[in-house]
Amino acid sequence: MMRPMKLAGSQLLFGEGCLEHIRTLAYKRVTIVLGGSSMHKSGMLDKVKRLFEESGAVVSIIEGVEPDPTFATVLRGAKEMQAAEPDLIVALGGGSVMDAAKTMWIYYENPQLQNLEDVLPPNPFPQLRTKAHFCCIPSTAGTASEVSRSVVISDNETGMKHGIGNMEMMPDIAICDPVVTVSMPPRITAETGMDALTHAVEALVSTRANYIGDVLATQAALDIIEYLPQAYENGQDLSVREKMLNASMAAGIAFTNVSLGIVHSMAHTLGGFFHVPHGLGDAMLLPYVIRFNSQDERAEKIYNDLARKAGGENLADMIAGLNEQLHIPVCFREIIEDEEKYNSLLDEMAKAAMEDGCTKTNPVIPALGQFVELFKKAYKGE
Ligand SMILES: [Fe+2]
Repeated sequence: MMRPMKLAGSQLLFGEGCLEHIRTLAYKRVTIVLGGSSMHKSGMLDKVKRLFEESGAVVSIIEGVEPDPTFATVLRGAKEMQAAEPDLIVALGGGSVMDAAKTMWIYYENPQLQNLEDVLPPNPFPQLRTKAHFCCIPSTAGTASEVSRSVVISDNETGMKHGIGNMEMMPDIAICDPVVTVSMPPRITAETGMDALTHAVEALVSTRANYIGDVLATQAALDIIEYLPQAYENGQDLSVREKMLNASMAAGIAFTNVSLGIVHSMAHTLGGFFHVPHGLGDAMLLPYVIRFNSQDERAEKIYNDLARKAGGENLADMIAGLNEQLHIPVCFREIIEDEEKYNSLLDEMAKAAMEDGCTKTNPVIPALGQFVELFKKAYKGE
């Protein structure tokens, strides 16, 4: 049976200049959550802070969310929020910042919770919005956490990644102004952009795909194929940045409703075991998984239709070509040197990928042995 669609929170803004919308918001205490120093350097923190102050809010800041944020960071942020008592939490940054801030929100609203397991099934998902609303201002065009119901948080000790998904976590406000993404360096532009393309392609072939999801994901995929190389070559072009940010957002609305596939299951696994950055893992795995999934007639037709619309013939080859243009390696041997360790972990990796929530909606559910084969192929570049 179809699940109800949720197309973003209550306010979705996009396009150049939409940051100005902040002036119209009526919150009293705003806490902005940040990652490293990039939003300081680009002047975006000052700009966003000033706009909130002009709206009449007192602004506090939580800094230092790391890439692949841990649960310890989440608890630290939630504690800082208990002191600042925001009625609006703003994540200003990329996927890690947005995911960490969303999770801080859960523990700020529910201080009685102390462990990551407390919010995972079979426990009921805790209540939100009794203290604060949540706003995302993305600085990358990729993860689409600004319109998604999910977060990925790493275990403090093991580094293993836990995905949490619930529509309660859909941000109330998403402000997608391309000016915030202009300072993104080429490598991050490429990797996050390929994450967005993977969202679109996996949403299209998902076993829960539907009409609205297809409309959004198709246009998103076509725009990313066309504009990502330009954003990579010339990040200062605001119109190209806008195309990418809008496409990432549209792909995000699609996938958060219809889910993903095994590119994500395998990328999550490689992220947990070998710290492969999420978008890079997606980009490298996508051609291998398209070839594997093409044994399913429906998936093969969707891939071929998309390739034709984008002016090509074979989608896997087109994406491999796009990766080459973006200087993304062909196989994991190029970035994971310890082949012995990789091979010794294959069974564990296959198991982790199988258990990943994204596997359920892949067009073909691989057997464990097929996951092992896929991990091997993607390592050697076969
Ligand atoms: Fe992703």
